[in-house]
Amino acid sequence: MKVLVLGQGAREHALGWLLRSQHECTEVIIHPGNAGTQRLGFRSFSPAASLPDLVTKAISENVQLVVIGPETLLEQGYADAFREQGIWVVGPNRSSAQLESSKVFAKQFMEKANIPTARFHIFESEEALTQFEQTQWPWVLKLDGLAAGKGVVIAQNPGDVQRFAKAVWKNHLFGEGPHRILAEDFLLGHEISYIGFCDGKSFTPLASATDYKRVFDHHQGANTGGMGAISPSPYFSDSLERIIQKRVIEPFLREVQSSGMDYRGILFVGLMVDSNGNPTVLEFNTRFGDPETQCVLPRFRSSFLSALIATATQELYKLPPLEWSSETSVYVVACAAGYPGEVKCGDAIEGLEIFPSDSTLFFAGVSVKDHQLVTQGGRVLGVGCLGNSIESARQKTYSRLSHLTWPGIHYRRDIGL
Ligand code: AMP
Ligand code: GLY
Repeated sequence: MKVLVLGQGAREHALGWLLRSQHECTEVIIHPGNAGTQRLGFRSFSPAASLPDLVTKAISENVQLVVIGPETLLEQGYADAFREQGIWVVGPNRSSAQLESSKVFAKQFMEKANIPTARFHIFESEEALTQFEQTQWPWVLKLDGLAAGKGVVIAQNPGDVQRFAKAVWKNHLFGEGPHRILAEDFLLGHEISYIGFCDGKSFTPLASATDYKRVFDHHQGANTGGMGAISPSPYFSDSLERIIQKRVIEPFLREVQSSGMDYRGILFVGLMVDSNGNPTVLEFNTRFGDPETQCVLPRFRSSFLSALIATATQELYKLPPLEWSSETSVYVVACAAGYPGEVKCGDAIEGLEIFPSDSTLFFAGVSVKDHQLVTQGGRVLGVGCLGNSIESARQKTYSRLSHLTWPGIHYRRDIGL
């Protein structure tokens, strides 16, 4: 079977890497992929290919399964276009992908489904937001739309609210608009991601993972797309999972069915768990997590292809329970100088030739210059290892990373500590 993975980051590299190991897969195409995936022999189509071009290619090449990585593609209706041609797709249609692409849609869904979430208000103008008499601080402000992780502000005081409102409606930081802001209560606790295959009727969880969002050690510095992850998550337990199933997943599936939504893809629930163990939903993502995927997939011991097909064909209920390695996985993202601010590109990546096979290396922001891989984006690549303990996985991962270098390389040293 030929499989097409859409996207260009390390997450898509990890998906392609695991799919390639499945003997039923004759070829895995990663489009557009990146210079690293291409160097490893993953084919891609012409970089200029439009969605109709890709659909035509997929049909003519007899691609049977498409796995969509980024939420932006789901929002643009990529899943709909392949599905309409009878191709199996892992990724919800555009209308269901609003669970991620619109915070307001997600909140309204949760209200109808009676899923626990923070109290909220919706604002449609600078005036309405800044004149609201908020008494409880901090207050969490979220742009209603995809904003590549930049649309959420934890406002500590009215000044922060005014600055964000001005950035949105006066300075058009997120484009011309119209814009809506969702404002919600600040929740205390620790964050958990609960991710799994969802076919609209059943949900099959992936192994747990925790990601590290801040750029510097000990959770300091700016928020990023993710600096690393560990799996299993130390914050997870069977009893917490049972609560999440009962209060979030079961009502989620009931609401999907009663409202006639078509949801065949990955469901990623971001939760805050308070000190009494009560989970509240912060957000839904309608795709695999990044970097959780790169961390979790090396532990996958069942047939990944079967799980993806079962999701696409709504036969998850037939899938035997997934098996996972009991080892711990540590995954660390190495970044270009300047990330998450403006990054320096074009630096040669040294040390790739001596990479041992008992570790994984997934490429993201890389390109080619003079036949050599060079840095091209903020998160350049990631390295991961499994170990019998978190300490051994950490040691192996950091030892592998120490062989890689480019000017200004930086990564967190405390992943898994
Ligand atoms: P979101 O995109 O909605 O997940 O928000 C991004 C990040 O902001 C989350 O991962 C949390 O760290 C933080 N956050 C979002 N909503 C809240 C909330 N209600 N209370 C506390 N922190 C939040
Ligand atoms: N790691 C968080 C995300 O993928 O959104």
